[in-house]
Amino acid sequence: MNYNIVPMDRSHLRGIADLERLCFTTPLTEVMLEQELYLDHASYLVAEDENGQVVGYAGLHVVLDEGYIDNVAVSPDYRRQGIARRLVEVFCRFGEERLAFLTLEVRASNKAAIALYDHLGFLPEGRRRGYYEKPREDAILMTRRFSHEGETASDSPEESPLV
Ligand SMILES: CC(C)(COP(=O)(O)OP(=O)(O)OC[C@H]1O[C@@H](n2cnc3c(N)ncnc32)[C@H](O)[C@@H]1OP(=O)(O)O)[C@@H](O)C(=O)NCCC(=O)NCCS
Repeated sequence: MNYNIVPMDRSHLRGIADLERLCFTTPLTEVMLEQELYLDHASYLVAEDENGQVVGYAGLHVVLDEGYIDNVAVSPDYRRQGIARRLVEVFCRFGEERLAFLTLEVRASNKAAIALYDHLGFLPEGRRRGYYEKPREDAILMTRRFSHEGETASDSPEESPLV
């Protein structure tokens, strides 16, 4: 299947909100997603098919040299084709250049997502008890750390778009 990875824009908001409702019990709404477009420290990527339809998406927030992955979802009909891996790999490449680490929370029962992050070099680093609702469940914290050998304190990160 052909798809492109592009930055989220307004045309994607409805498709992402639909995907959120399909995938999560506490979905982000179109309004919440739209607010992300105005945040300098947020980067949302969309996998879209030839017709511009959303088939997957992922969101990242950056605070100084720390990266927090908030959302990753792929439409059920398009899973196991490497779409989530490609989306998160973009964040990992950015991390290799700019971040000390990338981290995220995942439901303890979410074997598919845990396998995805494990595959991409994220390690389980902790557990937040009862973090999720609907249903109540622990979160596993998974983190991938990046070493920047030869870097000095004066090597300050510059602005750089992800895609
Ligand atoms: C988790 C999710 C994003 C994975 O998306 P995907 O596009 O199907 O994942 P990929 O095809 O890129 O898979 C990459 C690797 O992750 C692992 N993986 C993905 N889905 C898996 C599954 N159902 N079971 C076991 N391993 C899985 C595999 O190692 C896979 O590599 P392989 O196919 O070569 O074996 C998708 O299942 C989803 O949207 N789930 C619902 C929303 C969700 O739980 N999001 C994560 C919130 S933290």
